[in-house]
Amino acid sequence: MKIKYSIYVIALAGLSFGLASCGASGDHPGYEYAPQMYNSVAYEPLSQIQNEQEGSWLSSREDGKGEFFNSNINNPHGMNMREPVEGTVPRTKDGSLPYRLKAFELEEAAKNQNPIELTDQVLAEGKVLYTQYCSTCHGQNGEGDGKAGERVGGVANLKGGAYIDLPEGHIFHVIMKGKGRMGAHGSQISQERIWKIVHYVKQEIQKQ
Ligand code: HEC
Repeated sequence: MKIKYSIYVIALAGLSFGLASCGASGDHPGYEYAPQMYNSVAYEPLSQIQNEQEGSWLSSREDGKGEFFNSNINNPHGMNMREPVEGTVPRTKDGSLPYRLKAFELEEAAKNQNPIELTDQVLAEGKVLYTQYCSTCHGQNGEGDGKAGERVGGVANLKGGAYIDLPEGHIFHVIMKGKGRMGAHGSQISQERIWKIVHYVKQEIQKQ
């Protein structure tokens, strides 16, 4: 009998706590289950917890601050990421400027020169990248005979006809933005790597 009674009491306590946790109002977001899953200890640009004591009840941090404090005190407003300096243009990770040409601005793009110096090393890297990203459709030798290309259909033979004379900036643009049946690869391959692929296509596949 006693055990049954204790179970009831525990269940009731659990239930009341559960219901009480649902209440969120004003600055109180309600209780969280396993809060470490929601609040990142790492600095994150979009989540800032400025209260140094937040989460101190479970903190194991060596700096004595609450577990969830994750603001950067050296920045204005405790921001973790600084706003860019006014009038500056951000560069991508590989140091190049953002590529602003739109998909239809192919003619403009064709004037761009390959900024990467041509070396054996670059060609070797270009080959690896071409194999990874292009050969599935265009085939290892660029003849448009890749396995996936059979499904896509209408894959360009990079060795044939007018394709052989395509300017480097044109090829770069097609990889970046896509064209016709070929999808854009700009979000998957960095600009630097695309230029390396272009070197490989020009030097090895088209032998120019
Ligand atoms: C999913 C298949 C697929 C992949 C992957 C692919 N291509 Fe293509 N590519 C095509 C197709 C299809 C066309 C023909 C596009 C059209 O004119 O409709 C094409 C066209 C081209 C052209 C000719 C563009 C023009 O002006 O007509 C070039 C150059 C080219 N691809 C290079 C590449 C390179 C380099 C890669 C690797 C980064 C690549 N492609 C990856 C399918 C693909």
